[in-house]
Amino acid sequence: MNFEHLLATRTHIMEVSVIREILKVVSQPGMVSLAGGIPSPNSFPMDRMRELTERVMGKYESNAFQYDLTEGFIPLRETLVDYFRQKQIIASIDDITIQSGSQGALDAIGKVLISPGDKVAVEAPTYLAAIQAFRSYEAEFVRMDMDDDGLIPESLEDVLRTEQVKFVYTVPTFQNPTGRSVTLERRKQIAEIVQKYEALLVEDDPYSALRYRGEALPAIKTFAPENVVYVTTLSKVLAPGLRIGICVAPPLIKKWLAIVKQGVDLHTSTFSQAIAAEYISGGYLNEQLPKIIQLYRPRQEAMLNAIERYFPEDFAWSKPEGGMFIWAEGPEKLDMEELYWKAIERKVAYVPGKFFYSQPGEGKSTMRLNFTMVDEATIERTIRTLGDVFKNR
Ligand SMILES: Cc1ncc(COP(=O)(O)O)c(C=O)c1O
Repeated sequence: MNFEHLLATRTHIMEVSVIREILKVVSQPGMVSLAGGIPSPNSFPMDRMRELTERVMGKYESNAFQYDLTEGFIPLRETLVDYFRQKQIIASIDDITIQSGSQGALDAIGKVLISPGDKVAVEAPTYLAAIQAFRSYEAEFVRMDMDDDGLIPESLEDVLRTEQVKFVYTVPTFQNPTGRSVTLERRKQIAEIVQKYEALLVEDDPYSALRYRGEALPAIKTFAPENVVYVTTLSKVLAPGLRIGICVAPPLIKKWLAIVKQGVDLHTSTFSQAIAAEYISGGYLNEQLPKIIQLYRPRQEAMLNAIERYFPEDFAWSKPEGGMFIWAEGPEKLDMEELYWKAIERKVAYVPGKFFYSQPGEGKSTMRLNFTMVDEATIERTIRTLGDVFKNR
């Protein structure tokens, strides 16, 4: 049977991403992958998880396994009100919806807001799976410039002045893929600009808790609460398999996020949400976070030091204060996809950076490196190998 003709026109837009094809080799035996974007399993509080499971079963009994509200489990949303207040994000229970991962929130936002051909403004480069989610609703993309200090406010303003965009999507803290963070000054400017143009900004913030150095930065949401949909997740500070994403949205958007979720999965897993509620309200997130940071900080330092030591002089790279990624860029003519195959021969994988751009042709000489999944000695060895590959290009 050939069912090709049954596929919706929309489905064809979600063509198999080339990145999946090139990353297939990553699981070959002996390969060390700096290509991932996932937390170390050693960051999961396994003993605590056992204890929380018992506690959830005792406290919520069969309710932990029952259907629940589409907007999210009330004890979790209650505890999040306090959690957000500590971050100067003022949200009531009604403002908060729980989604199946922040990816679920991004998809729902796309579903609520994007009609075919609508424009979404994104950083160049940006989070690949956000492009995929928005593209599935037939969005078109307008690029915004970044530098070492993150999204450039003037570029955002240019876009809002000259284009009709449905919303702006940004990852302002320890961005995936670059690791870059928008400075405090720029956060305020960005907030002013979206207010001036009465624009909607989606602030995707999975990484801000993973800070290894420097001062915490307030979310853009704190400067423009009515214009920002704030999205965060427990994937990097508890466990991604629980699929707990959190969205704080203005009332109209929030109402529609709940309506579309009814048609998707009714609600996020009650059991996962109950675990998350107990994890945060019991103070265990605050207890676990320093352990996660202690695990990642030396890995990040090892990677930055090794890059400094082994990468060719004509390379530049980001020096983030947290997160999971480092972004490197070679001279303009370099093709990081071509060099990827040479690195694979030497059993090291990374992600060529061009896949993180919404516009074809950009980012040919860039790459993303992840440091959370490998120990310091392996990082040192693999970065030396990559340095070799790049020097002998
Ligand atoms: C910027 C960004 N947004 C969203 C996600 C999705 O995370 P989750 O759906 O696990 O919350 C990720 C995951 O890597 C990410 O890097």
